[in-house]
Amino acid sequence: MNRKSLHTLLLATLVIMLFTGCPKPALVDDIATLRDAGDYHGKWIGAAVDPSKFAESAYDTTLKTEFSMVVAENVMKMDTLQPNKDSFNFTPGDSIVAYATANTMALRGHALLWHSQLPTWIKSEPYANLPDLLLTHIDTVLTHYKGKMHSWDVVNEVVMDDGSGLRNNNEDIATSNYSIWADSATDDSLITEAFYKARTADPDAILIINDYSNETMGNAKADKLYSLVAGWINDGVPIDGVGFQLHLMEKYTPDYAAIRANINRYIALKPGFEVHFTEIDVRIEEPATEAKLANQAAIYSHLMDIALDYPEVTVYITWGVTDKYSWIPGFFTGYGSALIFDDLYEPKPAHDALLDMLQ
Ligand code: XIL
Repeated sequence: MNRKSLHTLLLATLVIMLFTGCPKPALVDDIATLRDAGDYHGKWIGAAVDPSKFAESAYDTTLKTEFSMVVAENVMKMDTLQPNKDSFNFTPGDSIVAYATANTMALRGHALLWHSQLPTWIKSEPYANLPDLLLTHIDTVLTHYKGKMHSWDVVNEVVMDDGSGLRNNNEDIATSNYSIWADSATDDSLITEAFYKARTADPDAILIINDYSNETMGNAKADKLYSLVAGWINDGVPIDGVGFQLHLMEKYTPDYAAIRANINRYIALKPGFEVHFTEIDVRIEEPATEAKLANQAAIYSHLMDIALDYPEVTVYITWGVTDKYSWIPGFFTGYGSALIFDDLYEPKPAHDALLDMLQ
């Protein structure tokens, strides 16, 4: 067939399709859930979960319909996983794995080296014992979940809030500068060993260093974390990506340009380096008015806009499924309504703005 008759044939087919109402190929704006829209763009849309809520029908339906990834909000932290020395409790974590498998969802692991939610017994161990105890913990947990985890937060919140160094055991125990896992503000030995151990125990998991207030370039803490990660990567430490927790406040508009600049410098560190948005919530000072909910929606959708511009941003997780169980009111007095589904599991403006952005 020559080119002219091919054109005529194509044109005729198009005209026939138009007039016969032949079904159009699926368009992204026909996709009705965040989960499906995220799949379309190759983004994991996740939620932090509490397995004791799986039996609640609205929780279950919302979670498996709208999200493609889950992370344990609490039950894969050390206090739950190793409540007594050398005695592991995988039961609640395993129920999350079973849920994800049954609903074809991906899993993130959270968190291995972290100063908080530690079992009591480890706090009285001398520093000299900690390397073995931490590495055994990592090895046991990653071996147990081997092949099931998309990624692990191997290291969580190690930089002090003022960016001056690593949280460590010389700081005042009553402050957020204290951690059992370092012996000084520059002692990164356990951090790097944690990554090597995690890589050996589960070579397929993406290994992440996660933190809060680390998303904007130009902020002292963010810049400190970046320079530490750059140094570790340079030394060959197996770190595959950075997690931005993104516990934000509705009343402060994020500096989106500074977030983009920060992502740019991280992804330049090595090919394949990923950025995960790991714990997003946008808390509102009560009462939540329509205007505040609209601001919140704009923040959620701007973050998705950024995610869509970077193939390296593969994960977009909200820290909970519903406002009904969000950690925010318990931790930040006077604040709430931080998630994208309300107390009754109704989608909020933030949910609809996210769906619009993905469409
Ligand atoms: C929070 C949980 O949401 C709460 O239920 C728990 O009581 C305390 O921890 N950064 C993190 C998360 O990395 O693990 C924290 O999760 C929130 C801040």
